[in-house]
Amino acid sequence: MSTRSRYLSLTWLVNLVLATTVVAHPNGELNRSGRTGSTCRSCHGGTAAVPTASFALAPVNPLLPPTSVGIVPGARYTVSISVTGGPSLRWGFDADASAGAAVLTSPTLTRVSTTRPQEVTHVTAGTHQSSWSYDWIAPATADPVTFWLAVNSANNNNSDTGDGIGTTSVIFNSLPAEILARLGAVNTASGIDNVVDVLTIRGGAGDSMRHLGVQTGQPFSLEINAYPGAPASVPYAVYALNRENTAADLTPHPLGLGTGCFATPISGGRSTVVTNVLGSDAQFGSAMFPGTPAGPGAILAVPRVPARYRGRTFTLMAVVQDSQSPSGNYVFTNAIVMQVL
Ligand code: HEC
Repeated sequence: MSTRSRYLSLTWLVNLVLATTVVAHPNGELNRSGRTGSTCRSCHGGTAAVPTASFALAPVNPLLPPTSVGIVPGARYTVSISVTGGPSLRWGFDADASAGAAVLTSPTLTRVSTTRPQEVTHVTAGTHQSSWSYDWIAPATADPVTFWLAVNSANNNNSDTGDGIGTTSVIFNSLPAEILARLGAVNTASGIDNVVDVLTIRGGAGDSMRHLGVQTGQPFSLEINAYPGAPASVPYAVYALNRENTAADLTPHPLGLGTGCFATPISGGRSTVVTNVLGSDAQFGSAMFPGTPAGPGAILAVPRVPARYRGRTFTLMAVVQDSQSPSGNYVFTNAIVMQVL
């Protein structure tokens, strides 16, 4: 064989390998989620009915807040994808995210991109079903996170004709700071698996809807619930931030009590961000800081919320004694965002 013909046959072999790779379409398609504008429609088409692409994200740990409230940095979520409608004889998908990393839970049906750890598509064996799932680890910081999804509801003619392509994209914000602050920080030695509502207003902790409303002209009471490790009488200090807090307010306490949803002075004094507005207002009762020991129950009972507070927002958080605290005797409670209506 001459050098030239050897070179030619090598080229032929490379082309064959490339061609084989390129036409193995049912083994998944990457960069077609819609993230860059390109979807399966670049090749698949026709007059087939457009299917619905469904995307759902749920925390693996059922104690974590639903994604409608926000995403917990670093937590593990299950992605569920499904296709309904269209020709419905064979199916496929490409799902991508702006951040995070995928973990395959069905590696015989799906695969991860080698260049984008957060992008997942089907493999050939996965084209005989219309739903798939995999796990996704949220990034340490990324707000918001966008997911893109493109699906194919195909007619199983082993070609790109007569198939229906559906797309969707969903945006998730990260968890509000006051909810993030309570995960793992309240009277627990075992992290975010133990979430206890310690500070409540009329029994509500404010987490699921973020805001608890209190009506002007009506009474309300702020209470400390009994909690694991609570002593018979609970010294407390309640802090109020005179606005809804932001992610930037989330700070570790200097005395190692955990992470608070706003900077909190533990031993009195004034803070630039914390004002004990409620406790220092005569109509809201006596000053609450520093706290007085009290059993679990109402710690602030307001007979009538003054009308001048209408429209204001306060973030409340307390420090309570906790014999189970890994970091000492005192810990932060959950925080509540209170809106005066
Ligand atoms: C670059 C062109 C191209 C793109 C983009 C593309 N496909 Fe395909 N696809 C094909 C071709 C061509 C076939 C026919 C089979 C083959 O080539 O192996 C096919 C076949 C399929 C089949 C089997 C169809 C049938 O009726 O038997 C599925 C399922 C499929 N693709 C899913 C997808 C999904 C999901 C996407 C988007 C995420 C996508 N494809 C994007 C070219 C493409």
